[in-house]
Amino acid sequence: MIIYTGKGGVGKTSVAAATALRCARMGYRTIVISTDSAHSLADSLETPLSGEIRSIGNNLDAIEVDVIHEMETRWNEIGKYLSDFMVSQGLDPISSKEMTVWPGMELMSALFYIEEFQKTGRYDVVVMDTAPTAETLRLLSFPDTADWYFDKMYKIFRNTVRLARATVGKVMSIPMPTNAFLDDLEQLKERMKTVRTILLDPRTTSVRLVLNPERMVINETKRAYTYLSLYNLTVECIVINRLLPDGARDMYPKAKYEEQSRYMQMIEESFSPLRMLKAYQASTEVVGREALEVLAEQLFDGTDPAQVYSLEKSMEIVNRDGEDTLALKLPFTSKDQVELYKSNDVLIVTVGWYKRSVTLPYSLVKKEAHKAEFKDGRLVISFK
Ligand SMILES: Nc1ncnc2c1ncn2[C@@H]1O[C@H](COP(=O)(O)OP(=O)(O)OP(=O)(O)O)[C@@H](O)[C@H]1O
Ligand SMILES: [Mg+2]
Repeated sequence: MIIYTGKGGVGKTSVAAATALRCARMGYRTIVISTDSAHSLADSLETPLSGEIRSIGNNLDAIEVDVIHEMETRWNEIGKYLSDFMVSQGLDPISSKEMTVWPGMELMSALFYIEEFQKTGRYDVVVMDTAPTAETLRLLSFPDTADWYFDKMYKIFRNTVRLARATVGKVMSIPMPTNAFLDDLEQLKERMKTVRTILLDPRTTSVRLVLNPERMVINETKRAYTYLSLYNLTVECIVINRLLPDGARDMYPKAKYEEQSRYMQMIEESFSPLRMLKAYQASTEVVGREALEVLAEQLFDGTDPAQVYSLEKSMEIVNRDGEDTLALKLPFTSKDQVELYKSNDVLIVTVGWYKRSVTLPYSLVKKEAHKAEFKDGRLVISFK
């Protein structure tokens, strides 16, 4: 599974579509899934798509996840109960159906598809196009917290049933959860466990961050990188899209190129030693298969887009023996002096000539970085 994520408008959908086309062409049984409720995969591929899996070429299927459709078909019991519940609270039936859909459910539904594909072995490669960062990040962390939520929910509904039995004759203001509903909830919980295993295993899941050489995009992507690392996902590579081509220097002002080289340095300091894939600013919109193939060629240059670029996490944020630590993979181990400089939520690490800039998660912003040492090929920074 290849998950492309990143800030709005950086090219996630285009890169996902290009990757899927290339994988299918290489003979992999491929599916590309759009999990952004503002679907644009169909526009990008210039092919009509829907909430049902559809074949759109040799070895290539596609789907734009539609949560209302998912609720009606796969999660009928849950959808029905939630909707009855909301009607009982005074909502009219039409809006109550809409209300059972909460932000990010597309991605969650897609994760259940993944679990199914894993079980049936239907595809070799699953490419996932996601909504802009913040929402996706919250959801990718979901399998981690899902257990806790499901347990709580299950208990609440079970207790409702008990309470109802104890108060027979009295009027209940909320509908009773049915056994079928409780079963569905239980099943969701079990499936989420499998999803978690798939997501956290770098041999099965590759998270790729898409960005453009622009300051605000880089900053948001750094934050995404930090949170993905915090949730234990392995970010495998970054995709730098919309680079100004070297051969078009007469088309753009010199200052643009200078700006770009500053941003490239920022990218280097923020993401090295992650593998970097590059694509260039096209003169027109990247729409349709031909344009997407060109994009794929730039990105992968004849190599396999489904290859695992790295099995190692280049950043890890964990609590070790009661102490919060941030471990960074650096391209060397060094006896040089390590210097740490913290400014608000950014930590700058310098080792000799080498400089890394990391956005800290909220939990570490208020803490002091008091120790840094090389351990097992990593620079481990301790916070107190
Ligand atoms: N390398 C490129 N050169 C020129 N145009 C590009 C390039 N990559 C993407 N685009 C164009 O930029 C626009 C946004 O791209 P795309 O929809 O892939 O981004 P996105 O990250 O999926 O956006 P959203 O966050 O809205 O989902 C599209 O019109 C697309 O054709
Ligand atoms: Mg998109």
